[in-house]
Amino acid sequence: MEFLDVIKGRRSIRKYLPKEVEKEKIDTILEAAQWAPSASNKQPWHFIVVRDSDTRTRLGQLHPYGRFMKESPVVIVVLGNPEMHPKYYLCDPHQAVQNILLTAYSLGLGSCWMGVRGASFEDDIKEMLGIPEALTVVCTISIGYPNHKRKSKRYPLGELVSWEQFGKSE
Ligand SMILES: Cc1cc2nc3c(=O)[nH]c(=O)nc-3n(C[C@H](O)[C@H](O)[C@H](O)COP(=O)(O)O)c2cc1C
Repeated sequence: MEFLDVIKGRRSIRKYLPKEVEKEKIDTILEAAQWAPSASNKQPWHFIVVRDSDTRTRLGQLHPYGRFMKESPVVIVVLGNPEMHPKYYLCDPHQAVQNILLTAYSLGLGSCWMGVRGASFEDDIKEMLGIPEALTVVCTISIGYPNHKRKSKRYPLGELVSWEQFGKSE
């Protein structure tokens, strides 16, 4: 697949087939996360792979916009570590998240990013998964074989881009 086709074809998938995700695919996705850029190469992140059905169900109960974590065979919980980079501990894990989403799509999988950081249930997730106090739960990502097709749209480039000076078109 062409790289831009991967970027444009990826959609947030919220319905999943009851089909396991191969361990090799999970490993590839984690490798893609590992190789994301980070400020000063500090890599202030950690990833918890959750496959256990009860834990996923509980995550789905905690997250008001993530009920479907119960259905997706894999959830990756993305953590940021402020001790490793006090300024970029949120930004850097997000780079890894994008790598995860795109790699999942390139492997025929669907995924959805669910924000957690600062939510009322963040501490509940930390307690449930034994996450050290110092770390932040940036988001959760559901992953699995898609059971629906979705469309999305974007603002036209002309509305998003200026050339040379703000507000100036090409
Ligand atoms: C920071 C962030 C938080 C998000 N949180 C949720 C969420 O809690 N639940 C959900 O279903 N989708 C969530 N999404 C997915 C967006 O709704 C989705 O990316 C957007 O609607 C564009 O659709 P697309 O990903 O299919 O292009 C989140 C996306 C981002 C970037």
